[in-house]
Amino acid sequence: MKKSLLLALESSCDETAGAIVKDGRDVLAEFVASQVDLHRAYGGVVPEVACRAHMECLLPGVDALFKQAGVTPADLDAVAVTNRPGLIGALLVGVSAAKGLALAWDTPLIGVDHIEGHIAAAALAEPRLEAPYLALVVSGGHTNLYLVRELGAGRGGMECLVSTLDDAAGEAFDKAAKLLGLGFPGGPRIEAAAKSGDGSVYDWRKSCLPPDGVNFSFSGLKTAVMYAARGRAGRKGPLLLDDAGVADAAASFQESVTNALVTRTLEAAERHGVKWVALGGGVAANGYLRAALARAAAEKGLEVAIPPMSLCTDNAVMIAARAHELFVAGVRDTLSLETVAR
Ligand code: KG4
Ligand code: ZN
Repeated sequence: MKKSLLLALESSCDETAGAIVKDGRDVLAEFVASQVDLHRAYGGVVPEVACRAHMECLLPGVDALFKQAGVTPADLDAVAVTNRPGLIGALLVGVSAAKGLALAWDTPLIGVDHIEGHIAAAALAEPRLEAPYLALVVSGGHTNLYLVRELGAGRGGMECLVSTLDDAAGEAFDKAAKLLGLGFPGGPRIEAAAKSGDGSVYDWRKSCLPPDGVNFSFSGLKTAVMYAARGRAGRKGPLLLDDAGVADAAASFQESVTNALVTRTLEAAERHGVKWVALGGGVAANGYLRAALARAAAEKGLEVAIPPMSLCTDNAVMIAARAHELFVAGVRDTLSLETVAR
């Protein structure tokens, strides 16, 4: 296996992250600077606030990485950076920094697709993973199911089979949490509230499985939560549920999203005759989803690759893991590397 020592940077949304990683799996140093406290006051990620925080954290973070890893820029084989998809300004901070460092250090540059990074995290966490496999990536911006035909494939080596017709699952978690008065960030708050709730109180499962029989849909679910929580007054109306009611709505919401994700994944696994299913993205940190997918897959004789929580939410180790695959495949970018929001 070809060797590499990579510095990877990630700034596509509201986490500034960096890592120095050997051969795509040996983490010499890592940091993740979460901006969650900065955005909480606004109830969501504010792009301008995110950009400024990335600018403040990124280069000091890189300095600290070298100290911790005990290597120098001259030891690097490449600088890797997330260049798509994400908040355009946030991506630009990371990509501009990576370009500057690559130029100053005379080191190759490798642009990494954030979603391919989430997929690489599963392979990193589960060495037994075999292609072809399905990769379910569930985050704040995406809810996609991919067919990966080859482990460590080059760019564009995966086919998107299923996606959302409207909101992403993570976005739905964040919006539902707001409607239920649970605050930001929504995913972990809904999961916590759901623990004491009854997920069968509201049956919203059908709304997440559109009649096309293939994709996901989460905007109808959001509206259903709104009516349950705020009645006819809508989004701005007073919360009509007590704590127990909020818990039941959170549990029912979580059950409906999980049911859709698991149902479509198992359908696709059968259609494509795969043996393995991998999970990734911030929503993959949800314990209820992790357990439900593992249980349902085991019943069908499927194997699952589910990364630890720290590799599910945004981080730079997964970007290094994906960059290593690209590095081995001979991919190198130039200083004209583009930054793409979608
Ligand atoms: O992958 P990620 O960290 O950033 C993007 O690429 O979007 O995903 C962030 C999303 C947010 O919508 C957040 O609410 C959701 O992941 N999330 C969760 C949990 N932790 C984070 N959703 C459900 N349950 C969780 N425990
Ligand atoms: Zn992500």
